[in-house]
Amino acid sequence: MAAPAASDPESFLKSVLNHVSSPAEPPQNRPFVTLTYAQSLDGKIAGKGGKQLILSGNESMLMTHWMRTMHEGILVGIGTALNDDPQLNTRRLPVRAEPYPQPIPIILDSQLRFRSNCKLVGNYGSGNGRQPWVLCSEEADPKKRESLENAGVKIVPVKSNPQTGKLDLDDVLSILRKLGVKSLMVEGGQQVISSFLSHKSSSTGKSAVDSIIVTVAPTYVGNEGVGALDEGQLPAKVAHVSSTVMGRDSIVACRPTES
Ligand SMILES: NC(=O)c1ccc[n+]([C@@H]2O[C@H](COP(=O)([O-])OP(=O)(O)OC[C@H]3O[C@@H](n4cnc5c(N)ncnc54)[C@H](OP(=O)(O)O)[C@@H]3O)[C@@H](O)[C@H]2O)c1
Repeated sequence: MAAPAASDPESFLKSVLNHVSSPAEPPQNRPFVTLTYAQSLDGKIAGKGGKQLILSGNESMLMTHWMRTMHEGILVGIGTALNDDPQLNTRRLPVRAEPYPQPIPIILDSQLRFRSNCKLVGNYGSGNGRQPWVLCSEEADPKKRESLENAGVKIVPVKSNPQTGKLDLDDVLSILRKLGVKSLMVEGGQQVISSFLSHKSSSTGKSAVDSIIVTVAPTYVGNEGVGALDEGQLPAKVAHVSSTVMGRDSIVACRPTES
């Protein structure tokens, strides 16, 4: 597939995201899943101690915001929610009469560590984002649950995986699908990227990721930075789909060979 002009993030995304270019129903038990993150030349997604780094340049950041308009949900782990206090909404896009669709912010957070004074809750209250959904363990503290619900957060209990102690991704994806989320953008951080990349569906034995879009920024972070992948987790084998350049950054789109 030929990459379009480097300056057109919307067309590039439409050319690599099948669910956008030829809309179809996702599988019954999960949404379409796009995994995306920005990394340095040495494969780091954050600085020493998890310090948030703005790795993407303006052009690739714009692409990320276009990508958010093309997904119904946007998922991060509680590590990212606590560390970065992200907004996960669509901003920076060209002004137009019709508002851009906003994805539902979705947080994987077994023990309900999510903070109700974060930007996601504030943006929901001020109309600058959708209601945040926090997916937690079925055993999570009911008092924490009640307090977050009172703050406007939707709490969704899911099964835990006894082997990893984390939320079970098959259950996460199947519950999101049942709740009507047909497309999901997974934005990090390290543990969530690793979990999604190494996960194989228990029903099909295949990856639950449809597309991987990585921004590579021309900078080195150094050994103390946080790598894109958690050590010890074996990522899926991938095939190249397309590459392009956005400003100073390179964008690589791949897909797991078994999805
Ligand atoms: N460059 C980028 O594109 C980018 C994007 C996002 C984040 N980041 C960076 O990534 C760092 C955060 O990464 P992180 O690894 O600490 O946190 P994370 O991946 O955002 O969140 C990990 C936490 O999510 C919860 N979780 C629940 N179920 C899970 C599952 N099945 N798989 C994985 N996690 C699950 C776990 O906490 P519980 O056990 O408590 O539930 C886990 O500790 C920050 O430094 C941030 O700046 C970079």
